[in-house]
Amino acid sequence: METVVSGIRPTGFLHLGNYFGALRNFIKMQDEANCFFFIADYHSLTTHPKGSELNTHIKNVLIDYLAAGLDPDKSTLYVQSDLPETAELYLLLNMLAYLGELERCVSFKEKVRKHPDNVNAGLLTYPVLQAADILIHNADKVPVGKDQLQHLEMARDFAQRFNHIYETEYFKLPVAYNFGNELIKIPGLDGSTKMSKSDNEASCVYLSDAPETIRKKVMKAVSDSGPTEPHQEKPQAIENLFQLMQAVSTSETLQFFEEQYNTCQIRYGDMKKQLAEDIIAFTTPIYEKILELRSNDTYLRSVAQKGAEKAHESASKTVRQVREIIGVRSI
Ligand code: TYM
Repeated sequence: METVVSGIRPTGFLHLGNYFGALRNFIKMQDEANCFFFIADYHSLTTHPKGSELNTHIKNVLIDYLAAGLDPDKSTLYVQSDLPETAELYLLLNMLAYLGELERCVSFKEKVRKHPDNVNAGLLTYPVLQAADILIHNADKVPVGKDQLQHLEMARDFAQRFNHIYETEYFKLPVAYNFGNELIKIPGLDGSTKMSKSDNEASCVYLSDAPETIRKKVMKAVSDSGPTEPHQEKPQAIENLFQLMQAVSTSETLQFFEEQYNTCQIRYGDMKKQLAEDIIAFTTPIYEKILELRSNDTYLRSVAQKGAEKAHESASKTVRQVREIIGVRSI
């Protein structure tokens, strides 16, 4: 059976980008693979969140995982910091990661540009920690959105380098995965190409948004005054509305608005109304489960505890074997 590993940072509630880029694949994969899905709390420390907020976000991501359909009896669900073996493998992999390649990483360069006052070492070695998450269970596949592709390539590089330096075939070379042919990027409501909480809250629709909030957000989405010529190329913000519709609406609905656009008859107000209702139809069952789970701390704690135990079984085996290969074992 293949091993699947992936994680999401607890920076807030999960949005449609997280769902269609990652979570939807997690849910499908849990029936056919040995799955580990975690909450990447160490990774979110690079931006120095307040302790109390981080703690709330960790709980919220676990709630979103469960409400969206992850089943703790099928998948191992855990919090990254509950698995100290990850930190040990991170340390060991850091010896194989070169400064030049870490500095060239696009996500690092972006963070440096956006937050020049907080260029910490954790940010630089972020891809090494991500590789440790993946290799700690010796994963075959990693379901992620398109933005994680470079991190996945780096994880593969570190695995390959380990195998090469220590003359072993111990680590498999993990690949980024999506059930469709291509990795996905869900755009924002603000005209940006990626729905992202850290870039702009207003660009996001959360799985935990109430229907009325979704209606308000979608009606405020960026659009324009409409096409002036038939079959005109779509500006980014309009392309975004169509891409969102492609994710949540039926192909008939999408086709209808495509035709309206191509014949210059489109009314964006109507399109947004339809888009909002289709998003709501899709999120409502998840939203209702989220409300239910919020008051069930005992259950949530038991899920995280059981997940940590199961993850520990797999991770301790990897660390033991890696130590042996490297030669750092007690005498
Ligand atoms: P994060 O927390 O930013 O995002 C979690 C997952 O959601 C996907 N995603 C999107 N997919 C499509 N469209 C979007 N607009 C969109 N926004 C987010 C991401 O691609 C990701 O799959 N470094 C990772 C977390 C991580 C991880 C790992 C992932 C830590 N360790 C090990 C896989 C394996 C991150 O910051 O994702």
